[in-house]
Amino acid sequence: MLKNSKPVTESLLKQAHHNMPMGVADNYRYWGEENTVFVKSSQGCTITDADDQEFIDFRLAYGPIILGYRDSRVDKEVVTVITERGTISGFSTDLDSQVVELIKQMCPNIEKMRFANSGTEAVIGAVRTARGFTGRNKIVVVEGGFHGLYDEMMWKSDVDNWDTDTEIAPKITAFGGGIPPATREHLETVPLNDFTAIDEVFARVGDDIAAIVIEPILGNCGSIASSQEYMQKLRDICDANGTLLIMDEVKTGFRVAKGGAQELYGIYADLTTYAKAMGNGYPVAAFGGRADVMDVIGFGNNGVTHGGTYTANMIALSAAKATLTILNETDAYDTINKVGADIQHLLSRVFTKHGIEHQFAGPDAMFGIHFGHQIPNNYRDWKKTDSDLYTQFAHNLIESGIMLEPDSREPWFICESHQHIDLIQLENIADAAMKKAIAERK
Ligand SMILES: Cc1ncc(COP(=O)(O)O)c(C=O)c1O
Repeated sequence: MLKNSKPVTESLLKQAHHNMPMGVADNYRYWGEENTVFVKSSQGCTITDADDQEFIDFRLAYGPIILGYRDSRVDKEVVTVITERGTISGFSTDLDSQVVELIKQMCPNIEKMRFANSGTEAVIGAVRTARGFTGRNKIVVVEGGFHGLYDEMMWKSDVDNWDTDTEIAPKITAFGGGIPPATREHLETVPLNDFTAIDEVFARVGDDIAAIVIEPILGNCGSIASSQEYMQKLRDICDANGTLLIMDEVKTGFRVAKGGAQELYGIYADLTTYAKAMGNGYPVAAFGGRADVMDVIGFGNNGVTHGGTYTANMIALSAAKATLTILNETDAYDTINKVGADIQHLLSRVFTKHGIEHQFAGPDAMFGIHFGHQIPNNYRDWKKTDSDLYTQFAHNLIESGIMLEPDSREPWFICESHQHIDLIQLENIADAAMKKAIAERK
């Protein structure tokens, strides 16, 4: 059990309140005055907070850590490159093509790429490219998906405030202030795995739909997955209507398989976005796909503009090169998938012992946990699960040194370093955390 008093954390948060809104550098890092975490160091699959309390981490910075924190194989490559060559020059380097060629070996859907610095930037690039290629405006997204913090993608299906007994669809609301209503003009939202809804949108505005943008496995909604048939439906409806299929693999890419979710489905996108796992925590992202589509990027009449000061900097690309080489050439995925499966088995034993109906969603490297009698089919179904019990369980785990997001919409992320954790100890901690959560509920 962790200490109740966290004097260093308290003082850091107090100081931070003078310097940043909410006292944090990112809204989602604010977990309240009592629970906001300040990290002092990380190693492998553990993080240590400012008060020297150690956590086994299943949050992994929202997914980028695929090998482990401070992986020496990756860090060494980055340090060598930046000390011997530098960071940026505003010119091309040989690393640009080396990294794309590595990605092409792993992801057969990629013919040409461009780099970016974050998942958000990669999505912006892919959507702009799709619009440039098709000459159309609209994009279709899926309820419960997340594609980054830029105005057009900051419209969400307000399932939190939605009544599950109604036939009426949840309202689409802005994430918050500062988002002009006009940014919603070209956005269409459909529930995942709903064939009627996608047919209806295409019947209504199909000739102006540039792209469907989808996370094939909802990394921001408990790893609820598209069915094989639905993914095929999206591929077919895009082909029939001259629309591009963009798969946002910012979370799933280089995590759930070498070739990401597309390898698992055997269904391929026209454009794909990558970030997170491709750099094991270094800020690197990319988008790419069909050469004929990507070649719309350029100068001249209607050429799509893409670039940026830090694009393809050598910190990012050396990290990507090292991470992808390891993922491509070692058995890291076998290790990650095995430990992910073992953890689900032990959690399942704990939930069953306590009489909790439960479901796991998504792949072993990034699984969601849902308390209920069936795997949710989409975001609306998620609302019918007992997410409050999950949150209580998660808080109890955190108190016992297991870090995760206390919201069942965020999956458990597994990295190669988790192979070293003590599974018996984890099972005992989970058992106590669930026992306490049930008692707290009564
Ligand atoms: C699927 C998906 N797309 C895009 C993004 C945005 O990425 P970033 O936070 O790197 O801008 C995220 C972030 O979690 C994501 O999960």
